Amino acid sequence: MITQVPAGYTYGSTAPSPVSAEELAQLEASVLFTADDREALRTAGDVLEDQVEDVLDVWYGFVAANPHLVAYFSTPDGTVLNDYLGRVRGRFGQWILDTCRRPHDREWLSYAHEIGLRHTFEKKNKTDDAPSISHIPLRYMVAFIYPITATMRPFLAKKGHGEEDVERMHQAWFKAVTLQVILWLRPYSSDRW
Ligand code: HEM
Repeated sequence: MITQVPAGYTYGSTAPSPVSAEELAQLEASVLFTADDREALRTAGDVLEDQVEDVLDVWYGFVAANPHLVAYFSTPDGTVLNDYLGRVRGRFGQWILDTCRRPHDREWLSYAHEIGLRHTFEKKNKTDDAPSISHIPLRYMVAFIYPITATMRPFLAKKGHGEEDVERMHQAWFKAVTLQVILWLRPYSSDRW
């Protein structure tokens, strides 16, 4: 269970998101995110709470196995920055539970905007003062939706829920990740978003 505030986690104290409540509601409708999904995510939060480190081991293993991805946690000449990896890991774990538990209010929207910025030229590396590559390409942001979703299913199934409940949680997770990546892409191209 996560008990400490992760290094660099600034939920609740970031600049406001430029996304309006109406735009968010329309996006939720566009990814078919409903009150049922909110409920399923709450259950998923309980299921995942003591598995966060195991989920992160899988995701970090996937990144580590792909030199073109671990590059974004490395110096431009290819030295892996373990401190940076470790600090981001803490926030990543918190995000798993936030995705399941946080209401989609203004604070949540604002932190979603902040996470987007932290993947781009504007803010990547700044939180951790990391001497790494300064931007994550948009194409990989979209690509990650698949592994971040597919790898979650076995963890959702680990606490004895029936197939139907696991599927509900998994679909809700898929929608919640898709929705957030859409919000995170706004800083990549605000005039075309
Ligand atoms: C930061 C999730 C795509 C590399 C983060 C954080 C989360 C996250 C939750 C921490 C946010 C915070 O600071 O509180 C995701 C998800 C993705 C995605 C769900 C797509 C579905 C990628 C990709 C890469 C990547 C494709 C490239 C390998 C990083 C790095 C940071 C980070 C380097 C640290 C940024 C900084 O300097 O603050 N990501 N990410 N992420 N992610 Fe991603």
